[in-house]
Amino acid sequence: MTDATTPISKGRILVVDDQRNMRATTAMLLHDDGYTVSQAATGEEALAVLAKGQVDLLLTDLKMEPMDGLTLLRRGLEVSPRLQAIMMTAFGSIESAVEAMRLGAYDYVTKPFKDGELRYRVERALERTKLQMAVDNFANQFYQQHNLSALVGRSQAMRELTTRLMRVAQSDATVLIQGESGTGKELVARALHAHSRRSGRPFVPVNCSAISETLLESELFGHAKGAFTGAVKTRRGLFEEADGGTLFIDEVTETSPTFQSKLLRTLQDGEVRRVGESTAMRVDTRIAAATNRDIELEVREKRFRQDLYYRLNVVMLRVPPLRERLEDVPALAEHFLQRSNARSPRARRLSATALEHLMTYNFPGNVRELENLVEQAAALAEADELQPEDFPLRPQSRVLPATTASGLPSADVRAGSPEATGPTLAEVVEEAERRAIVQALERHGVDLARVADELGVSSTTLWRKMKRLNLRPPAGAPRE
Ligand SMILES: Nc1ncnc2c1ncn2[C@@H]1O[C@H](COP(=O)(O)OP(=O)(O)OP(=O)(O)O)[C@@H](O)[C@H]1O
Ligand SMILES: [Mg+2]
Repeated sequence: MTDATTPISKGRILVVDDQRNMRATTAMLLHDDGYTVSQAATGEEALAVLAKGQVDLLLTDLKMEPMDGLTLLRRGLEVSPRLQAIMMTAFGSIESAVEAMRLGAYDYVTKPFKDGELRYRVERALERTKLQMAVDNFANQFYQQHNLSALVGRSQAMRELTTRLMRVAQSDATVLIQGESGTGKELVARALHAHSRRSGRPFVPVNCSAISETLLESELFGHAKGAFTGAVKTRRGLFEEADGGTLFIDEVTETSPTFQSKLLRTLQDGEVRRVGESTAMRVDTRIAAATNRDIELEVREKRFRQDLYYRLNVVMLRVPPLRERLEDVPALAEHFLQRSNARSPRARRLSATALEHLMTYNFPGNVRELENLVEQAAALAEADELQPEDFPLRPQSRVLPATTASGLPSADVRAGSPEATGPTLAEVVEEAERRAIVQALERHGVDLARVADELGVSSTTLWRKMKRLNLRPPAGAPRE
């Protein structure tokens, strides 16, 4: 019951107890401490309050009629999965308290309790809510601050894509994003989230090809304690983490039939069932899925479930390859160069000839390849004005004869010539590889599969190269 004179609430607490005195004194104590407190005398009443979604902490008695505290907790977490709960137990009912913790309660207090003890536990539980929210928001803020979800490129194809994206962003429709590797599918998914009403809630990406099938299942759906060897604690899945926000299921075609049917069921019911649990939980998670394969072909060849395809493909967003929109290259190159300048003491510029040189290329690795080329050039070039030879392109992917605008032989040839005073081509390539790997490692840490993915090589190749370049994997990375 806030009014203009009440200071900002420290948290919203619902006190549930069928004993009026107990309930009233507890509520009063917390109210005086500056919390926003509501009360309920029965489990049913409490659920009605929880359903409105305005409670951070549930403080409930365990022994109540007809709905007991455990049932209230279970159903409360269904309607409000981010709820923290503290159980109030009578002396001697420790077993129920343990059961409550297993169901997801944060803590318990034994009646009668001292004011100080309750205060301490309440503070701690709410601290956890804040922490959780901070973690959720961190990634989003990072992206917003750095404007990373801004899609650069004003070609006809990109304009059509952004128009369509903005239109579907407003809805909750499931979106399927299709495009070659490195075209910007993840960025499209982030932009979709950033322009939706869910932008204040988490964007949670998961890459289906980066983890094993069993791990993927428990990652996505969560698991009960003891569901399998190693499941020492109950764990929320990413579906739940993304509640209220967007779950980005990347490389969705790289999944097994069993996984696909479980995903289908979840999408149909709008409910997640943790591995090893019998009850399901309602979630409000928007799905964006992506693939770099021809998904219709995958369906025809029976590698991808047709019904799941229909479920996911409510709206299809196709991200065109960069070679079909070469007019976006200047803006993209400029964008990546500015970003790299912001991190470095030097102010690099693109020469007109360098740009022309880039426009003769068909970018098999799409935008990611251009991004790497620019970052490497910015890291390695001698002069501030970047020249064609600062961008070594794969010769077989050139679309025009391999000469520069000035008529000189192209960079690849010149850099390796014996007269050159600079480094040899092999050295340049090696240095560029080293930089690219180091930067990718910085971005993805221990997730070597993601590093390999980003660099467009297999994990084995990545390992081999790291070994040759004497690069150590970051601490905690799994061995080959
Ligand atoms: N239109 C764009 N504007 C700015 N940056 C872009 C754009 N498209 C892609 N990028 C950048 O290019 C890189 C590759 O994009 P992204 O990871 O989204 O591609 P992807 O399609 O998901 O690739 P993959 O299939 O390999 O996972 C990222 O660093 C991304 O920020
Ligand atoms: Mg991707």
